[in-house]
Amino acid sequence: MCGIVGYIGRKRAYPILLNGLKRLEYRGYDSAGVAVFENKEIISYKKQGKVSELEDMLADTKINSNIGIGHTRWATHGEPNDVNAHPHTSQNGIFTMIHNGIIENFERLKSKLATRGYSCNSETDTEVLVNLIEYIYTKGNISAELAVRLALSKVIGAYGIVVMCKNEPDKLIAARKGSPLVIGIGKNEYYIASDATPIVEYTKSVIYLDNDNLAIIKRNQLTLKTIDNTEFEPEIQKIDIGIDAIEKGGFDHFMLKEIFEQPQSIKDTFRGRIKSDFSDIRLGGLSDVFPKLVNAKRIIIIACGTSWHAGLVGEYLIEEFARIPVEVEYGSEFRYRNPVINSDDIVIAISQSGETADTLAAIEMARKNGATVIGICNVVGSSIPRETDAGVYTHAGPEIGVASTKAFTAQVTVLNMLAFLLGKKRGVISQERFEFLVKKLSEIPQKIEQVLKTNDQIKKIAELYKNSTNFLYLGRGVQFPVALEGALKLKEISYIHAEGYPAAEMKHGPIALIDENMPVVFIATKDKTYDKIVSNIQEIKARKGVVIAVVTEGDTAIKNLADHVIEIPDTEEALGHLLSVVPLQLLSYHIAVLRNCNVDQPRNLAKSVTVE
Ligand code: G6P
Repeated sequence: MCGIVGYIGRKRAYPILLNGLKRLEYRGYDSAGVAVFENKEIISYKKQGKVSELEDMLADTKINSNIGIGHTRWATHGEPNDVNAHPHTSQNGIFTMIHNGIIENFERLKSKLATRGYSCNSETDTEVLVNLIEYIYTKGNISAELAVRLALSKVIGAYGIVVMCKNEPDKLIAARKGSPLVIGIGKNEYYIASDATPIVEYTKSVIYLDNDNLAIIKRNQLTLKTIDNTEFEPEIQKIDIGIDAIEKGGFDHFMLKEIFEQPQSIKDTFRGRIKSDFSDIRLGGLSDVFPKLVNAKRIIIIACGTSWHAGLVGEYLIEEFARIPVEVEYGSEFRYRNPVINSDDIVIAISQSGETADTLAAIEMARKNGATVIGICNVVGSSIPRETDAGVYTHAGPEIGVASTKAFTAQVTVLNMLAFLLGKKRGVISQERFEFLVKKLSEIPQKIEQVLKTNDQIKKIAELYKNSTNFLYLGRGVQFPVALEGALKLKEISYIHAEGYPAAEMKHGPIALIDENMPVVFIATKDKTYDKIVSNIQEIKARKGVVIAVVTEGDTAIKNLADHVIEIPDTEEALGHLLSVVPLQLLSYHIAVLRNCNVDQPRNLAKSVTVE
């Protein structure tokens, strides 16, 4: 995610900002920038690419200011380029701002501001907000602080912002809702950042802002307020953890951090897309092709790796809810076959990185044959979104662990939204059913919080089976791709051989492998094939296999049969994959850690496979 850094004090701000931006590089970013006060003006320098490129660009520039802000951007609105990079300055140059988060109603605010003579240079939601602040400030002839507060009261969404006002040059104004901000306290100086990594080398005394907090920061005075203007005393905390631990949010590995981020990343995926009364879903990036999608005779999903598993979930969902036939293809197979592609086909390419070579080649082939291609990608501005006709970004934030976790749940969240919406538009499901499903989807983040509480229990199970040489993962229906994903996660990071199978297919081969040394992981939640799965578990137990079952909470039948049960909350069958995949991610993580494997960078694997 984007990174924020700011400084106000007596030292030169620029080296502190630059150093801070480098500390924040681990978060993933595509452009960087700083803004400082120089000769009573705010001057911004920004550049697409690495912080080192910004540094090179400014190598011969004298920047003496001792107040400034800096930002590393990970694109959400508009592709990565110099113009979209932060900081952003208001139209008349009065305010400059950096921002993390997403302003959901930015389009509405943008059109309102347009009627008042404001236009934007960038495609960002941030520029809209800084223009709004300036508009309110100028119109009301009020203080910068009040303008920021009033502007934020009109914003729907998440933000962590730091604002500079040309007319009030001795202060920084910061505010938080959803996106974290930390203030570091020095002697007659303050630091501000999106996490403590850029701060710890200067001070250990910090204040974590809460949602709806505002900070007015001067060199020797810090005022904290709530958004409705009530002052409060800061709670100063001492940090005693190292930079490495802070980068990983206190977790031992990025993978674990990303697993635990899923309640938030899923929320970010549907943020601003699901209407608050659940009556509709808006996928803005698809509006141009939506009529074609609604009338599609066939959908072909193309992807690789974990994204291909998301595609299999998509097949189940789209066929179930929209009644459109779906085929799911590996990019690498599709491109070298001679597939039948028609001009009324819709091809959906799913990719975390947006750079996977086989998926890209398959897209090119589909487009040449006249199909309409839609991308579901995480990295904004990457190659796949540029090569497709339309698309939906997953907004899961940068994924650093090579084994994909939160990107998968974000991809299937998009597919859930798409399937529900198509189902409604095609008249397959009623408005009432649609609203029910959307409401259930909105409850998933909180249910994942509950699933994450099984972490310690899963660690104990991992202890017992860390030395196994084979694992089998079984599931049915929408849980079959989850079984494949569970097996892939284990293979990738622990180097244990694992296979995923549809539970009923087990008897056509894998059952021959079952003995007391073979752990079998069942996804056995309460859905329409539950009774069949119970029979499959019995078949394993009869052959002395070890059963680890992911079950719906309160299940007693499987508890009596299985060696271990991991309980997850009940939900709609069509959303079950979002919950059941989490214990499997945790199981593979703990086994890999116990085997001393390099969890975040497993051997022989790459995060983004840009070659065939
Ligand atoms: C690599 C990664 C996987 C990923 C796959 C597809 O193999 O290690 O985690 O699922 O590529 O990548 P994509 O970026 O297209 O989703």
